[in-house]
Amino acid sequence: MKKVISVLTMFALLLFAFAGCSSDSGKSESSKPQAEKNTSQSDNASEDDNSTQSNANAADESKTTAGSNVIVVYFSRTGEQYSVGVIDEGNTAIVAKMIAEKTGADIFEILPETDYYPYTYTELTEVAKKEQNENARPAIKSALPVMSKYDTVFIGAPVWWGDWPMIMYTFFESANLSGKKLIPFSTHEGSGLSGFDSKLSAAVTDAEVLTGLSVRGSDCQNDKAGVKSKVNEWISGLGLS
Ligand SMILES: Cc1cc2nc3c(=O)[nH]c(=O)nc-3n(C[C@H](O)[C@H](O)[C@H](O)COP(=O)(O)O)c2cc1C
Repeated sequence: MKKVISVLTMFALLLFAFAGCSSDSGKSESSKPQAEKNTSQSDNASEDDNSTQSNANAADESKTTAGSNVIVVYFSRTGEQYSVGVIDEGNTAIVAKMIAEKTGADIFEILPETDYYPYTYTELTEVAKKEQNENARPAIKSALPVMSKYDTVFIGAPVWWGDWPMIMYTFFESANLSGKKLIPFSTHEGSGLSGFDSKLSAAVTDAEVLTGLSVRGSDCQNDKAGVKSKVNEWISGLGLS
């Protein structure tokens, strides 16, 4: 009975958080096993592979000329997600790939060293809350990209309990982001950017944080064309095209 009450309370809290501060403005939106995704991450983690992707993208004229000084770093989950059911590709992953496609940037997915995040929504919220309460720094799988290659870093994640997932703080504190242009983006179900920009500025004090973008997670699954045009417009506004 106690457990039922605590699960219901958690749902109520989350619904409250989502409804409380909704904004998709640019300033302030599985079933696939994670092991499969991990393979692709270790590919992305290699400097050579990143360069290959960047070069391959450079030939497409629909992309910007931002190119090889830019990288997109993101964290995203498949499995059961809020309001979209079980998804094969994470909402933030969808946006991250659109950014990389548009800019010709390299791309790197942050994965936990061990895949301990649940694939069921309620259990995931519990683990995420515990990490937040403990101010945890979950270990990242694979070596980080060589950041000296990049002057501009798009950084994206789902909003978790009104904040970056704690594993993103591991990234902020272990990658050398000094002096770089950092561009945050979120996916969410009501909280918008949820202070990702100011929290990033506070975590990396000697970087320039540019205007971020928030995208509804459900739009990533159900309105890819709409999300794409929003992403492209935002990138144009950043002067990267
Ligand atoms: C642990 C957890 C906490 C969440 N907290 C919030 C929140 O505070 N505000 C919000 O708008 N959405 C919240 N969401 C919804 C996610 O931000 C949204 O579904 C996101 O698009 C998931 O992205 P992903 O598929 O890339 O992981 C939460 C989801 C999870 C799993």
